[in-house]
Amino acid sequence: MTSFNAPAAVERPPGRIGGTPLVPVRVPVRGGSLRLWLKLEWDNPFGSIKARTAEALLDALEATGRLGPGNRVVESTSGNLGVALAGLCAARGYACTLVVEPSTPHGSVARMRELGADVVVVPDVPGGRTLDARLRVVDDLLRRDPTAVWTDQYHSAANPGVHESRTAAELVRQAPNGSYDAVAVAVSTGGTLAGVAQFFRDHLPTARVIAVDAVGSAALGGPVAERPCKLAGFGSGRPSGFVRPHHVDDVVRVRDEDAAAACVLLQRATGLSLGGSAGAAVLAAVVRAAADPALREVACVCPDSGEKYPLTETAARVGTTASPDVATALDALGRARAGTPHAQETPLP
Ligand SMILES: Cc1ncc(COP(=O)(O)O)c(C=O)c1O
Repeated sequence: MTSFNAPAAVERPPGRIGGTPLVPVRVPVRGGSLRLWLKLEWDNPFGSIKARTAEALLDALEATGRLGPGNRVVESTSGNLGVALAGLCAARGYACTLVVEPSTPHGSVARMRELGADVVVVPDVPGGRTLDARLRVVDDLLRRDPTAVWTDQYHSAANPGVHESRTAAELVRQAPNGSYDAVAVAVSTGGTLAGVAQFFRDHLPTARVIAVDAVGSAALGGPVAERPCKLAGFGSGRPSGFVRPHHVDDVVRVRDEDAAAACVLLQRATGLSLGGSAGAAVLAAVVRAAADPALREVACVCPDSGEKYPLTETAARVGTTASPDVATALDALGRARAGTPHAQETPLP
């Protein structure tokens, strides 16, 4: 068992964003074994990868003079970005209003309020259209309050920019032997995927980029559909404004319940706690590697930990409904073994 088995009891201070650990996990696959390299982003301040995004969004607005003393920051969020924005706005002296939905974990909403933010919860809209409702509330807030400024995680170039210049650069510097065969990234706005993919294209062009979307999400195209056990932060009701065709080699669509099962099985086997989108990335990596023997060292971006999600209840819905390749991958994850965290950084290729 690894010592990286639970989120830090003491949160890192807001100034210490990035430099997160990379932990190897060995997963048996037919004819050998696969090594996953998990980038544990829950080790950021405010518990997720979104600390990086929040800092970059605020910095970009401040640098252009659009955000300053007396402004109110407004954003639509599924949870993690809201917690990070609430914390950074408190530290920088901005008022903050966050628009969330019923699938946002209650613990995240409570944390946003604790950090001083106002939180508006929109009701669910049938047909997977709740994001549209959140964005209408943001529009309304901007119209009514002249001090309000939208960080706009859906369109700001700072979102993919920080994952290209920081998240992916770190991941590649930490790479075993300076390289990976592939990287798997789950999508919501697609900022993480677009940034990481661009950096890999420029610095590790032989690595495959595996994009991981939820069944019923429109983030990577296709129609939205109802997601009865939607995992917050995974997938989106709208297409990503950032992901371009050249970023992606494979798209793997994962059901929420299968992602949750991956989290539960991996935690039992290794002690590592992963959130739903991280579970989806890990599952997609194992499915793809089982089909392609060239993929044996695969990096997975793990945006947060599993502590705030109803993973056990969601995983119980899988029953016997998993497809054969997903069932095989879940079985393999149940036999995974974690190694010691990899701190070594290598020069960029
Ligand atoms: C848990 C989790 N996973 C993945 C993501 C995806 O990030 P992005 O918006 O960069 O696609 C988010 C975003 O909120 C998230 O909270």
